[in-house]
Amino acid sequence: MTAYGAAISGVGSYAPPGVLTNEDLEKLVDTTDAWIVQRTGMKRRHIIGPDGATSDLALPAAQAALSAAGKTAADIDCIICATATPDYLFPAMACIVGFRLGVAGKPAFDISIACSGFVYAVTTAASLVRSGVYRSVLVIGAETLSKITDYTDRGTCVLFGDGAGAVVVERSEEDCFLGSELGADGTDPTVLYLPGGGSRMPFNTNGKFAAERLGYIHMQGQSVFKFAVNQMVASVRTALSKAGLTTADVDFVVPHQANLRIIDAMVKTLGLPPDKCIINIAEYGNTSAASIPIALAEAVAAGSIRKGHIVVMVAFGGGLSWGAMVWRWKDAKVGAPARQTVAGALA
Ligand SMILES: CC(C)(COP(=O)(O)OP(=O)(O)OC[C@H]1O[C@@H](n2cnc3c(N)ncnc32)[C@H](O)[C@@H]1OP(=O)(O)O)[C@@H](O)C(=O)NCCC(=O)NCCS
Repeated sequence: MTAYGAAISGVGSYAPPGVLTNEDLEKLVDTTDAWIVQRTGMKRRHIIGPDGATSDLALPAAQAALSAAGKTAADIDCIICATATPDYLFPAMACIVGFRLGVAGKPAFDISIACSGFVYAVTTAASLVRSGVYRSVLVIGAETLSKITDYTDRGTCVLFGDGAGAVVVERSEEDCFLGSELGADGTDPTVLYLPGGGSRMPFNTNGKFAAERLGYIHMQGQSVFKFAVNQMVASVRTALSKAGLTTADVDFVVPHQANLRIIDAMVKTLGLPPDKCIINIAEYGNTSAASIPIALAEAVAAGSIRKGHIVVMVAFGGGLSWGAMVWRWKDAKVGAPARQTVAGALA
């Protein structure tokens, strides 16, 4: 089999301007800024307006990644979107993004594995590039979790936000994709799930949908917490070992931003210096499949992640699912992240 190298050649991100602060949440549910900061590390989340859809966020993130890679959408062979909140259950959001980028006709598909989506999608893209099927793949992680967040449930509504991030993965002489580890265990999908809208509880279920709040995220927080810490540590170790590396070789870890305490526990158990971990949870909350590429884009923009660095990205999420991947950073730039803020997002 022909084998090629793969590298990330451009990064971009986008967050909607509307901001939901802890103080805003204090007015919606019985919570406090102090509780949210202490238990999660979150201060604000960016929230899309009622008329917005996830592809509205995916598009500017994709354009930023393309321009950073010195490409136009016409140069891309395939589009993969990682999302749990696509514009529609079907067709795939990637089809809509392809059309909006002006390249209808190119292969485009979604990967649906909740917060682990970006790691799965980039691993898939790297596999397509390394096997010679495509030369360049655009990968987007984009979410509007505000659309499925129950703003009467204090156990979940403080956690989630909206946003998008993207990378271009392309053929490269040097193979920068050093290793990856993916996994999933569907023993109990209800630990973290959206009960309604699928075939088990269709939208048309008489009368139950609104009454039982089936269209919102349901979560057993403490179970997810314990799983997350153990699995992130194990995933990082396995991906590094597949790459022939150890934690001592790592320049930066970019973890899924679900809870600062989960990230801190992972960093401590791995024995990593805290300044090697990219954290932006205070600004965005948990944006599911978008959280890693947004953090990655910001770390590249800040000049933290640079050419030659060993970068580990690690996620966990609904499924339950998990994934980690190890990249050598080539010299990928970041496209101008378009970020503005407007108060009163849910007003
Ligand atoms: C959700 C989470 C922040 C809750 O934090 P916790 O420290 O585990 O808190 P607990 O669930 O033990 O609840 C402790 C108390 O705080 C209360 N509480 C929960 N949410 C609250 C909030 N927003 N404000 C104030 N109190 C809150 C609970 O009702 C409980 O009160 P009680 O002791 O009177 O029953 C935490 O479990 C978590 O982050 N889990 C992982 C979730 C996750 O990452 N999901 C997405 C994965 S991709």
